[in-house]
Amino acid sequence: MIDVKNLTKRFVGRTAVDAITFAVGKGEIVGFLGPNGAGKSTTMRMLTGYLPPTSGEASIGGHDVFTDSLKARREIGYMPENVPLYEDMRVIEYLSFRAGLKGVPIRGVKSSVERAMEYCGLGEVRKKMISNLSKGFRQRVGLADALVHKPRLLILDEPTNGLDPNQIRQVRHLITQLAGEHTVLLSTHILSEVQMSCRRVIIINKGRIRADDTPDALAANLQSSGVVTLEVKADAAAAQDKIQALPHVRRLTSSDAGEGWQRFELRVEPGPDDIRETLHLLAQAEHWPLRELTRHTATLEDVFVELTQRD
Ligand SMILES: Nc1ncnc2c1ncn2[C@@H]1O[C@H](COP(=O)(O)OP(=O)(O)OP(=O)(O)O)[C@@H](O)[C@H]1O
Ligand SMILES: [Mg+2]
Repeated sequence: MIDVKNLTKRFVGRTAVDAITFAVGKGEIVGFLGPNGAGKSTTMRMLTGYLPPTSGEASIGGHDVFTDSLKARREIGYMPENVPLYEDMRVIEYLSFRAGLKGVPIRGVKSSVERAMEYCGLGEVRKKMISNLSKGFRQRVGLADALVHKPRLLILDEPTNGLDPNQIRQVRHLITQLAGEHTVLLSTHILSEVQMSCRRVIIINKGRIRADDTPDALAANLQSSGVVTLEVKADAAAAQDKIQALPHVRRLTSSDAGEGWQRFELRVEPGPDDIRETLHLLAQAEHWPLRELTRHTATLEDVFVELTQRD
């Protein structure tokens, strides 16, 4: 459904998207994850034809986004980062107007709008002015707008941004309901959202793709290398040096846990031994009082931090 090859966008002085390549199959729900400024919105704007690329190719449903943009756009329902809504229109008027713009035939507008409103739970606010809607309902109007012409592909840029936890659950529920019928590419900062609703995650950082896999596989991959927490009472710098010098320690962060206690988080390479034993022996040899030594299950959050903070 989406096919992207070496897609690149350079702005003056910076490369926002750097030769990314990925494909999304029909019916997939893919999470597009990355820190602020990673290039998510820029990629989405190129895919939806709002921004010309510097180089590279992209096609939607077999239509080239740049040379055949009308056909490509017809396949897409796009919910941009900041949904532009006409404040002085009623919900139903706005969606009817948008349906017309998107080429829904006049006779089909009413039923298409009803369907989209029902899907997004907008029935009770249908006659309200958009200017009087809460943020959550505005987001829903944005989603209904993206859906109204029954596109095969939905590109949603942070659809739950700024919503409260209840609203987030509702929107997430809507999105999972869309599965099957639609292909969905959604960007977000909320990792639990991806873990719950996406079967595949693409992690982007500084314009480059750092991972592309299922959430579980990504976490499992990191798990094999281990995440360990250690809390000891010791001189911070000396302990840091000693721990870092141990074999298989890949990354080490430390924080002050108060009253002389230091908390260390270690990423450990796969090895034959359990690093906890080594750490215990080290603490003993150094006469560091020890109050915590645990090994964690890696989460998608660990993966995210690992992939987006390394460089
Ligand atoms: N029109 C523009 N002109 C110049 N630089 C831009 C423009 N649009 C985006 N950028 C830059 O490109 C980079 C990627 O921005 P982008 O909006 O794609 O990030 P993002 O992943 O969507 O981030 P966020 O999570 O904050 O929405 C940023 O460094 C941004 O400052
Ligand atoms: Mg963005």
